Amino acid sequence: MRQKRIRQATREAMAAAGVIIGPTPLMLTKKTVSLEIGSGKGRFITDLAKDHPDALFLAMEININVCYRIMQKKQEMGLDNLLIILGDAKELDQYLPPASVDRLYLNFSDPWPKARHHKRRLTAPAFLDLYDKVMKKHGIIQFRTDHEGFFEDTLMTVHGRYAITDIRYDLPPGPYMTEYEEKKRADGPIYQLTLEVK
Ligand SMILES: C[S@@+](CC[C@H](N)C(=O)[O-])C[C@H]1O[C@@H](n2cnc3c(N)ncnc32)[C@H](O)[C@@H]1O
Repeated sequence: MRQKRIRQATREAMAAAGVIIGPTPLMLTKKTVSLEIGSGKGRFITDLAKDHPDALFLAMEININVCYRIMQKKQEMGLDNLLIILGDAKELDQYLPPASVDRLYLNFSDPWPKARHHKRRLTAPAFLDLYDKVMKKHGIIQFRTDHEGFFEDTLMTVHGRYAITDIRYDLPPGPYMTEYEEKKRADGPIYQLTLEVK
């Protein structure tokens, strides 16, 4: 999806506002750490951070213009328990210590429908290898999408690798939804997979 360019969204301005631009190793100060990769404009992760002030939340987003929106939300909501990373999931292990993440959220990741692009999906095996490095044992991975093919392929990819604790083929609306989910609910079912790291 093409994103509108925001003139003020420069790496310098965002670094000055506390956005992490690395890769750089992070010192995680709280016991419970939740990470969302591909946070888009950030509604899901900022709402979670607002409701759970004692936990630490990390939003990783590769697109500088949408990342700027997360930064604006963080400022408006006065969240001091949310770290925003302007970066690529490919470099996740250069930011996060091993076994440091309790919950990982993959919300409406790009489905990359063409077979030759499947390796770019955030649930492709190379990404799962990275997640396995930073996730705690028994950590939870939650994957949500509106794309049936992407969901079914992901189910096959994770089979045997993680414990599948929940599968939803028509997830009802919940308290934490992304901007994309709000729009896409009108078009059809939302799928969700919950996994536990072994
Ligand atoms: C379809 S959008 C969904 C955004 C948001 N999760 C939502 O549901 O509204 C996918 C997002 O993932 C981001 N993204 C894609 N590949 C990424 C990567 N390798 N690392 C970090 N973010 C990525 C994109 O820039 C985009 O903002």
